[in-house]
Amino acid sequence: MTDIPVLTIDGPSGSGKGTLAQRMASHLGWHYLDSGALYRVLAHAALKHQLPLHEAEPLAELAARLDVEFLLEGQHLQVWLEGEDVSLKIRSEQAGNAASKVAALPAVRAALLQRQRNFRQAPGLVTDGRDMGTVVFPDANFKVFLTASAEVRAGRRYKQLKEKGIESNLSDLIAEISERDQRDTGRSVAPLQAANDALVLDSSALGIDAVVKTICDYVR
Ligand code: DC
Repeated sequence: MTDIPVLTIDGPSGSGKGTLAQRMASHLGWHYLDSGALYRVLAHAALKHQLPLHEAEPLAELAARLDVEFLLEGQHLQVWLEGEDVSLKIRSEQAGNAASKVAALPAVRAALLQRQRNFRQAPGLVTDGRDMGTVVFPDANFKVFLTASAEVRAGRRYKQLKEKGIESNLSDLIAEISERDQRDTGRSVAPLQAANDALVLDSSALGIDAVVKTICDYVR
């Protein structure tokens, strides 16, 4: 246990938790952990090394020795795997779905637990994911659960992908997001759920500035 403060932001895919977490980290001057990026980069590494996405043991071994580095450049997170910049590659829908599959394996989650906790460094940590407030940092000082309807989230994802020059289809995105929600919520270990002591916020009708303001008030 440590007294270094932590703000956890959990929620489903596309709820805006990543943007909120990065804005809060920059506002507070705290470190930032994007735990989803860790599962995404692991899935990417598994595909690169031709490991099937359902085989727990080799995946957990890979997770334990994963050569990954996160660099926060302003509000832009760079992700390096084995010396290669994979920041863009791991953001595709395909990478997100692959991440959700490896993340359902208990041995993989166990192998990544301490690596995530090591990000708790002074002066503080802001982190986003699915189980940050429930499993990884149950003693966090501030916990937020950010949600929004599947349609709103798919619309945001569509816009984000378009801005990155990645083509997608809105109805496919709604179906993929709903399928991913089901897998993330229904799994036996560390399912997506709000911690009992989390502030639950529905961002369907709120812009990111309003969400940031609400959370700044909460942390203050
Ligand atoms: O937040 P994201 O969309 O980048 O996460 C990708 C996948 O990783 C998500 O579908 C589920 C998994 N994940 C998880 O199981 N636990 C976390 N703390 C973060 C992500």
